[in-house]
Amino acid sequence: MTNIGSYDERLEAFCWSIAEEELDYSDAETKNIGWYCSDRICRMGKSGKPALIWEGHDGTMKQYTFNDVRLASNTIGNFLKNLGLKNEDRVCLFMDKIPELYFSFLGVLKIGAIVQPLFSAFGDESLHVRLANAETKAIITQRKHVGKVRRILDQSPYLKHIIIVDYDGKHPLREREIVFNLEESIPVEEFDIFPVNTESPSVLHYTSGTTGQPKGVKHVHYSLISQYLTTKWVLDLQDDDRYWCTADPGWVTGTSYGIIGPWSLGVTQCVLDKGFSAENWYQFIEKYNISVWYSAPTAIRSLMKAGDEIVKKYNLSSLRHLASVGEPLNAEAVIWSEKVYGLPFLDTYWQTETGSIMISNFPGMPIRPGSMGKPFPGIVGTIVNTKSFEPLEIPGDIGLIAFKPGWPAMMRNYWNNEETYQSKFKNGWYIPGDRARLDSDGYFWFVGRDDDVINTAGHLVSPFEVESALLETEQVAESAVVSKPDEINMEVVKAFVTLKPGFTPSPDTELKIMNYIRKKLSPLAMPQEIEFVKSLPKTRSGKIMRRLLHAQEWGEEIGDTSTLEDED
Ligand code: WT7
Repeated sequence: MTNIGSYDERLEAFCWSIAEEELDYSDAETKNIGWYCSDRICRMGKSGKPALIWEGHDGTMKQYTFNDVRLASNTIGNFLKNLGLKNEDRVCLFMDKIPELYFSFLGVLKIGAIVQPLFSAFGDESLHVRLANAETKAIITQRKHVGKVRRILDQSPYLKHIIIVDYDGKHPLREREIVFNLEESIPVEEFDIFPVNTESPSVLHYTSGTTGQPKGVKHVHYSLISQYLTTKWVLDLQDDDRYWCTADPGWVTGTSYGIIGPWSLGVTQCVLDKGFSAENWYQFIEKYNISVWYSAPTAIRSLMKAGDEIVKKYNLSSLRHLASVGEPLNAEAVIWSEKVYGLPFLDTYWQTETGSIMISNFPGMPIRPGSMGKPFPGIVGTIVNTKSFEPLEIPGDIGLIAFKPGWPAMMRNYWNNEETYQSKFKNGWYIPGDRARLDSDGYFWFVGRDDDVINTAGHLVSPFEVESALLETEQVAESAVVSKPDEINMEVVKAFVTLKPGFTPSPDTELKIMNYIRKKLSPLAMPQEIEFVKSLPKTRSGKIMRRLLHAQEWGEEIGDTSTLEDED
């Protein structure tokens, strides 16, 4: 029996109060997500149940019960409070997927502060713009990443505390640095959890747009309602499950469904802090008897490439439910997974801004491989015309995905950017910025993004950020960044550049530029190819025509080029 039972019956009888009742929301002593994910579960008699089963890259294994999570998050919260941090201060988490990352997430929430998780592979520039935008007061990090923080310190006057969780005493601490060692700290049994209300800010995730700096997506504690119920009904988590969300908590999947969802349900989750390989992943599933697996299309395509034979070497019989998110999931991948694992990957669609799953293939519902599925009960979704924002006929043409605002996990703002936030709403709809179509049975089919943002391996990269970074190199005069097709990652970053006088195109120049971007921004933003050109196509007003280069890479019709400068 699945948690959702019948999708159609749920649709008819739906109200978000279902989640509120299950969570005893109105009577709860606090609405704090930190409390919901640890203290409440202990109080329900599960304090000895494993909450986190963790394996590191060197094979170290650690296991923590819900009571351990409660104590660890209390202890971290207490440490932060003693530093003078308080509610609504921004505290950044800049760590690999180590246990401290998960506990700190709840610890920051427990003092009422806003948790700002950032992907630890980010370079100094990526880190800097996000901390500067949020005026982040403290960052919790590891020795291996502290160098990046030190390099931006002069430009970061608001950053008061750099907390290192694995200090080894070998090198002296520098200005503003302080050590926190979880294992050596006295566990804090009783902690005064900050009494947030439903609209108190909780999580701040940064996401990239086509233009401008990345935007801070502000969520509130009430998001729990959506995250709890979607985890229960879409991911179908049940009490005896062993759940594995492969996403890093630097991204929203890793927090909404890699912390809040499973732990608010009191479900055991497993985390692997190790690079991807088919062997590593299958071994992990076998060793820990993973039953529910939430992953992403790039990983699934990589597993497909690793082949069917390797699957047979492992006992994967514990698996019972698979889901995917982040980028288009090809029909072939769904069919393949059904063939080799005996289970299809169910596609889910949502965004950093939506905070929780919006459209998905539900357990027990007939799936259509290649389709994202149907809206979650309580979510009103449709396809609207790209200009009038009026709903299109069903079945109909390609248009923009649109949702009626007002579900619990919806972002409440972009940090200090009300204007861009408002621009996401048209004609009473929230417009995520994706094109899709609806079939006659109400299934959504993804078509593409409605902007120039590149989705590489499920991660959004702003062409603007990469272009700006390219201009900082000593070699590049002008740049245009687009996506190009890739078998595994769907899209990868490609840069077209003109060089400054004195520089010549060569593999060495290409490598130098690539490395610069990797260090400054991140490995994801690094162009996989740099094409050296004599000039870039521009409009009469001098704007680089990315659209043209994009069409060229994808072998598409170029369309209207009448504004091209060359045609003047
Ligand atoms: C964008 C959001 C929240 C998930 C992690 C990514 C694309 C997401 C799908 C899907 C096709 C998808 C959209 C969306 N996307 N899921 N199932 N099929 N595209 O969160 O970084 O905010 O990216 O990812 O373009 O707008 P994000």
